[in-house]
Amino acid sequence: MIFASRRSGALAVPPLACAVLATGMALAASAPFDDLRRQPPVHGDAAAGAAKAVVCAACHGSRGTAVAPTFPNLAGQSETYLYVQLRAFQDGARDNAVMKPLAANLTDRDMHDLAAHFASLPPGAARPVAQKSPRGDTLFHDGDPAAGVPPCQGCHGPDGRGPRPDLASTAPQPAWSTFPALAGQNAPYVLEQLKAYHDGTRVGTSNDRVMQGVAHNLSEADMAALAGYVSSL
Ligand code: HEC
Ligand code: HEC
Repeated sequence: MIFASRRSGALAVPPLACAVLATGMALAASAPFDDLRRQPPVHGDAAAGAAKAVVCAACHGSRGTAVAPTFPNLAGQSETYLYVQLRAFQDGARDNAVMKPLAANLTDRDMHDLAAHFASLPPGAARPVAQKSPRGDTLFHDGDPAAGVPPCQGCHGPDGRGPRPDLASTAPQPAWSTFPALAGQNAPYVLEQLKAYHDGTRVGTSNDRVMQGVAHNLSEADMAALAGYVSSL
């Protein structure tokens, strides 16, 4: 079990991956790291999660639409993505002073159920309509090959609603269920996250390292354009 030792804060990744990461990354050796490459899709109990979500409403809204644009919307997000984020807040792989104490006492079952609850809510209720940015649109769909920026749609879907894996295909597929939807996400929150990947402060999971690579070549202006664009979807 890949995650067996994550509560101890030990590196729970295969030795080869450790060696690769150790050479390229400046992360402190003791920081927790969640390897999500073999994360199976999770399925919690949405009704049980609704009862546990009362405390979350103060910031994320009673229907998963955040009360302030600096907080993320959770409604309609990928269930497995939400679950792995809660686990990362708890074990410290995603370092956030607000969410850490809120996740600290959740059981694994709680995290499954809360993820199922928010994933089951319809996205987009009462969100302010953001301005569509032409530069953001171009970057999202075509990237900027000259600047070394890949198109976002390749992993987040052409409409930003998350990847649609070809379930009929027998080819090996990445852990798509751990990839988030971006459509309608709050622009200030998205901008903060892109900066965190860019600056190497959100790098505690294997998926974060993917986004670190994506954000590496983004200028601040392009991050702002992308944040505005995805929030408009
Ligand atoms: C006091 C405000 C507050 C409360 C209460 C709160 N959160 Fe959060 N939550 C935040 C903030 C702020 C972030 C963004 C953290 C960051 O920037 O890394 C966040 C991020 C998240 C994320 C990551 C979303 C994403 O798109 O990556 C999840 C999942 C989450 N919260 C779930 C919950 C759950 C479940 C509860 C209730 C048990 C809860 N939160 C209660 C403020 C709050
Ligand atoms: C190679 C695949 C890939 C590409 C290309 C990609 N992403 Fe991501 N993105 C991911 C994965 C995987 C995650 C989940 C990271 C995690 O678990 O923290 C993610 C997470 C994010 C998040 C955090 C969402 C949240 O709710 O906190 C944002 C914002 C984001 N990506 C924006 C972008 C933008 C903008 C682009 C294009 C410039 C892009 N991504 C291109 C794979 C990709």
